[in-house]
Amino acid sequence: MTNQTPGFFIAFEGGDGAGKSTQAARLAEALESRGLKVLRTREPGGTPVGEKLRSLVLDHGNGHIDAHTEALIFAASRAAHASQVIRPALERGEIVLTDRYIDSSVAYQGAGRDLGTDAVRSINEWATSGLQPDLTVLLDVDPGVGRRRRTAGDAAEDRLESEADEFHTRIRNAFLELAALHPDAYLVLPAHLPVTDLAAQILARVDGLLTSAGRGAA
Ligand code: TYD
Repeated sequence: MTNQTPGFFIAFEGGDGAGKSTQAARLAEALESRGLKVLRTREPGGTPVGEKLRSLVLDHGNGHIDAHTEALIFAASRAAHASQVIRPALERGEIVLTDRYIDSSVAYQGAGRDLGTDAVRSINEWATSGLQPDLTVLLDVDPGVGRRRRTAGDAAEDRLESEADEFHTRIRNAFLELAALHPDAYLVLPAHLPVTDLAAQILARVDGLLTSAGRGAA
């Protein structure tokens, strides 16, 4: 395992409307039904300070937020999340599933906002003391499809979601590039597959990794 704790750390990543939270919930259910202890969490958020930072950076009406400030708010939220929630759960030997992690900042702020992927990665590695997922599940979604999914039923888009499709295309490409750099650490799946097919493929990969880490089903 790469995180040097007895736990196992999985991040779900992808564009808005990719279905990450549905898949994280499915995986949590499947693992818990085998007697494994699972912690589900999300970014930005996951701690009281993180939830406040979340509304600061996502809600409309907080005035102009420049790209550097935005990146630092996400990184601050993540620092709290990593040290107060994720690392303690991993130390207890739990399986942690997070809806978004460092790759979201690298893709949205590094590529989407043009701050540079290396700079954004390095502030986030500092913020988390280098805590990396054992596996990242990337649900690859076409930006147009993602927008239709998230606005179904008249749901309002947050500050980032309401950016143009071109912004979301840069993000999509950045996620795919990150996955291509370290294929062993990623599972990339097309988000348009049926929910049950995605869930089965994710569970199969996680099962394989847990078994090789000596953490197979109870
Ligand atoms: P998310 O929680 O996935 O949205 P939802 O409200 O649908 O649950 O993410 C909120 C938004 O924040 C999303 O558009 C992606 C963006 N984001 C970043 O730009 N950088 C980051 O580091 C993170 C974690 C999220």
